[in-house]
Amino acid sequence: MKRISVKTGRPYDMVIGTGILSDAADYIQEVTGPCRAALICDSNVAGLYAGTVSEALTDAGFDVTLIEFPAGEENKNLESYCAIMEQLARAALSRSDIIIALGGGVTGDMAGFAAATYLRGIRYIQMPTTYLAAVDSSVGGKTAVDLGKGKNLCGAFWQPSLVLCDISTFRTLSPSEMLDGSAESYKTAMIADEELAPYVKKIMSALMETGGEITGEMTDTLELVVERSVQVKRTIVEHDERDTGERQLLNFGHTFGHSIEKLSEYAIPHGQAVARGMVCEARAAYKLGYTEYDAADQIRSDLADMNFDLEIPYDAEKILKVAKGDKKVRTGSITVVFPESPGKCALRTIPLDDLQQYIEAGLSQQ
Ligand SMILES: NC(=O)c1ccc[n+]([C@@H]2O[C@H](COP(=O)([O-])OP(=O)(O)OC[C@H]3O[C@@H](n4cnc5c(N)ncnc54)[C@H](O)[C@@H]3O)[C@@H](O)[C@H]2O)c1
Ligand SMILES: [Zn+2]
Repeated sequence: MKRISVKTGRPYDMVIGTGILSDAADYIQEVTGPCRAALICDSNVAGLYAGTVSEALTDAGFDVTLIEFPAGEENKNLESYCAIMEQLARAALSRSDIIIALGGGVTGDMAGFAAATYLRGIRYIQMPTTYLAAVDSSVGGKTAVDLGKGKNLCGAFWQPSLVLCDISTFRTLSPSEMLDGSAESYKTAMIADEELAPYVKKIMSALMETGGEITGEMTDTLELVVERSVQVKRTIVEHDERDTGERQLLNFGHTFGHSIEKLSEYAIPHGQAVARGMVCEARAAYKLGYTEYDAADQIRSDLADMNFDLEIPYDAEKILKVAKGDKKVRTGSITVVFPESPGKCALRTIPLDDLQQYIEAGLSQQ
């Protein structure tokens, strides 16, 4: 069992381990006594894990309402958000009650946004059940839903009160979902922890050997990767909670990534789009002379070893059009992230007029 403290404006802990779902009530009582709890899950996770958490909380005296929405990034939208808000009101949640986001990044982002806005903000708990949500989205307090024009365009900063990560839930993830988490933890390694990368790779090669089954030994490595990834993110978020500087480092791979994800109409999932994005962004930075460190080949080969499909079926024109709608585009400029040396990324703000050249350089083959 690991515990990480996050010292943001509202401080909170993340607990990482196995068997946490059935002990959820014990941990949750660190932040609140029995109250009404809205347990928000997508349609996949509801059938897998909602029963265990709901039973544990009910036994401890919580009054639990399950709120379910259809799974998938295409449902991280205003329609699902509105349906959730109406159900929160019907369950008569007050400001002293809590929301629990049990699921992947889609659930965490949308339930977090509901928590940020219901009654002008109530407390919520993140219970990540995907590798990606555990290493990235459950910590840091960025909550959002997508709009037609782009990802995460409607959202708020709203820190959780607690994050509970039960690694044993990863056993029901598909190889594709394990890849998604690997992409974000590999990203973290590139940004600030070079020594993390071999562990990320080790998990994916072990999974290829076992045909997707997560063994006991892998659980220990996963716990380590989640812990180290979150330690990096925690430090960055503590320095820049509102994403005006250093936090933008966490966007490595995301300028291309968000565009690829959106162009595929979310058929290419977030993590796998970010993987492609990291290769392109490293290449663009080197080709345009932002850095003398040529990381693209190493990144490409590491990701290929982990079984990532790195093909990008879109041309520069299409990517540019979508990238211009991204919220990272500030008036007239965009901040891009690039590997500056092994295990270290840096930021550079470029004029919007240079974005086309940047995207073309990223897509070029060498
Ligand atoms: N807020 C942030 O800081 C932040 C950071 C990174 C990513 N994100 C967001 O996270 C989202 C991607 O997250 P994701 O990859 O977890 O997507 P997701 O929530 O859609 O989960 C992926 C799939 O796995 C299923 N699932 C979840 N847990 C499961 C389990 N234990 N067993 C079996 N199936 C399970 C889900 O139902 C879904 O079908 C994107 O919307 C992205 O923008 C947010
Ligand atoms: Zn991401």
